[in-house]
Amino acid sequence: MTPSIFDKKETMKRKTLSRYLIEQQREHNNLPADLRLLIEVAARACKHISHAVSKGSLGEVIGSAGSENIQGEIQKKLDILSNEILIEANEWGGHLAGLASEEMEHIYEIPNRFPKGEYLLIYDPLDGSSNIDINVSIGTIFSVLKKTEPVEGEITPVTEQDFLQKGANQVAAGYAIYGPQTQLVLTTGYGVQIFTLDPEIGSWVLTQDQVKIPESTSEYAINSSYQRFWHAPIQRYIDELIAGKDGPRGKDFNMRWVAAMVAEVHRILTRGGIFLYPTNSRESHRTGRLRLLYEANPMAMIIEQAGGAATNGHIRMLDVQPSSLHERVAVFLGSKEEVEIVTQYHREAI
Ligand code: F6P
Ligand code: MN
Repeated sequence: MTPSIFDKKETMKRKTLSRYLIEQQREHNNLPADLRLLIEVAARACKHISHAVSKGSLGEVIGSAGSENIQGEIQKKLDILSNEILIEANEWGGHLAGLASEEMEHIYEIPNRFPKGEYLLIYDPLDGSSNIDINVSIGTIFSVLKKTEPVEGEITPVTEQDFLQKGANQVAAGYAIYGPQTQLVLTTGYGVQIFTLDPEIGSWVLTQDQVKIPESTSEYAINSSYQRFWHAPIQRYIDELIAGKDGPRGKDFNMRWVAAMVAEVHRILTRGGIFLYPTNSRESHRTGRLRLLYEANPMAMIIEQAGGAATNGHIRMLDVQPSSLHERVAVFLGSKEEVEIVTQYHREAI
């Protein structure tokens, strides 16, 4: 037999996202064609965003757009551009019933000129946008739900209510990180995979299969400039970490804060850790800072699929019933042991 020009090991190294998705469907029957299309289209849009991000000032995408989003945050040009890239990439394919974004007050219904599908795509188009101007990692976070129809076979117009599903219903979740390398982190309910963008061939290549978060850690991430506003359970937990070897925890902890949730989660997936964004007594953080539907839920699914844990301080994040599109929540996620301890401190404080 003539030897293949491709070394078998080399071929394994180059498993593309398309091939991975097809093989998952064969193995688990969990990725129908429309869902594969959705993931591929979202991933392609992330390539486009990555390209815009990497051009920086050369692409005239840096700086403020001079507007505010529904949360009262200043929108950067890249926030708006990334939002538009994701809409344009997804609206025509026939796989979506609607989409929702951090940058849009209301849901986006697929225009009538396009066929409609059964999936709902929810995203934060550019997470960590305060890092844009300083050339530090940012990303895109997305969550996929299925629209449920009251009567099978009947298609009703999409409403905000369709999006208000628990995170446990997500059929896929992922994020792209635009850092020294551009990577796509994906779960479809069978573990977590990391794909790295090969800029020469323009493909997402599987570089890490079945990512696992270590159960224990000695690294934490919190914005401690809010310390004077913290509630008692957080104060207690962080005091104990800082006390290190001399305190009740009996070991030293290190701290990191990138100010982009994608980058914090990425670090935790890679080497463990805990990320905390608690509620605090400041009016703007009273119910939390991060958004349930397009930040907390997709990240919670990824973290759980990698063997970690995610809560809102009281219950499993994926069991929280959303009540509005842009709802904010407290977030605790990462290595299981630490998430359990801080959640326990909250429960004891009730
Ligand atoms: O999207 C919100 C976000 O930018 C997250 O990515 C990040 O974790 C957090 O806010 C940063 O918060 P702070 O402004 O408190 O540093
Ligand atoms: Mn964000």
